[in-house]
Amino acid sequence: MDYFNYSNGKLHAEDVALDAIASEIGTPFYVYSRATLERHYTVFADAVAPAQVCYAVKANSNIAVLKVLALLGCGADVVSGGEIRRALEAGIAPENIVFSGVGKTPEEMGFALAHGIKQFNVESAEELALLNDVAGEHGYTAPIALRVNPDIDAGTHAKITTGKKENKFGIPLEDAMAVYQQAGELPHIQVQGVSMHIGSQLTTLAPFRAAFETAKAFVQQLRAAGHAISVLDIGGGLGVPYEKAGESPPTPTQYGEVVREVLGDLDCELICEPGRLISGNAGLLVAETIFVKHSAGKRFLILDAAMNDLMRPALYDAQHELVPLRDDHSTTSAPYDVVGPVCETGDVFSKDTQLPDDLQRGDRLAFRTAGAYGATMSHTYNSRPLIAEVLVDGDRFGVIRPRQSYEELLALDDVPQWL
Ligand code: LLP
Repeated sequence: MDYFNYSNGKLHAEDVALDAIASEIGTPFYVYSRATLERHYTVFADAVAPAQVCYAVKANSNIAVLKVLALLGCGADVVSGGEIRRALEAGIAPENIVFSGVGKTPEEMGFALAHGIKQFNVESAEELALLNDVAGEHGYTAPIALRVNPDIDAGTHAKITTGKKENKFGIPLEDAMAVYQQAGELPHIQVQGVSMHIGSQLTTLAPFRAAFETAKAFVQQLRAAGHAISVLDIGGGLGVPYEKAGESPPTPTQYGEVVREVLGDLDCELICEPGRLISGNAGLLVAETIFVKHSAGKRFLILDAAMNDLMRPALYDAQHELVPLRDDHSTTSAPYDVVGPVCETGDVFSKDTQLPDDLQRGDRLAFRTAGAYGATMSHTYNSRPLIAEVLVDGDRFGVIRPRQSYEELLALDDVPQWL
């Protein structure tokens, strides 16, 4: 459920008309609803209680968005020094931060150790050895879980599946016991948990159940071998409906039931790392029509947003529902290819999409389900400045990232004096 609805003929985020924001700050922009973020967090946290929710910052890392979640007691799953800094800046407690990722650098490790994060989710024997060295050098003991790769097919898009053994993530289950033995002998490592994450945008529960059962059996094996395992991080991955694609993923409640059924009696502190589920449907991308181009018998809706602002369609063939900001358009529809201005054939949001047949230059529309992996994956290809982000709270809104100016964009480059 979200708080983006039509009222008085106009699409609103909570009580603010999106047209009003567009007129004030221009287009394109991302807009997030605080009430929706809070609702998603609360529904999920209740469903998996008493597990600690560590929101996957990569989904939407705006500090204001993180602060909304921090105020509710949410933790963070981070994958870089930049994400740790954002989480801390937003007020997320270090003891609720877990650090995942296959390529942590000594600098990132040292920074995380100095801030006393809850857990490093270590993804290889090589990383374990380096973390031990870095912790020893600075006089710390690093609390760790090993991320195990259970070789389970998440049944999701190949580019977002992570728990198959050919993926770069985690330690294959058959090797993990030996790496735990090594970890147990390292002086600056404290073994406390097991972690896993099998993929993103899962739309069935079966792979989760299989992964949880594998994790449970492994925790029992580790304990039998003398390791004190008190934390199990089960990752994220629960999908959201991208309405047009016709998916109906399980609800957080159904997911929570599986967690409880399989892991309820394990006597482990549980951590969940949802990203998309929290922020996906809490955000829209608002764009304006530059032209409706009629060509070769087709209609192209050319928007001022492009693949650099929302990469998901070009990268994963993702379908984001597109809706006009006004509800008084023609009731007759026509097929459009919805595209951006970037000079790439792949800069297509969708093809043969039925939209009102009277759309014209200046009409504004919004892509739904753009709150996760939208702004965080955007970039400046074609020298297009990063777009603004806005947070709505009831009848007020704040710009939580101003649109990048051309001056700021150009100032990123430097020309050596000798040139
Ligand atoms: N934990 C770990 C270790 C992860 O790698 C991820 C996502 C998550 C949690 C959160 O997964 P979620 O609950 O959001 O599914 N850019 C892609 C998604 C990449 C996900 C990468 N890892 C997309 O736009 O679909």
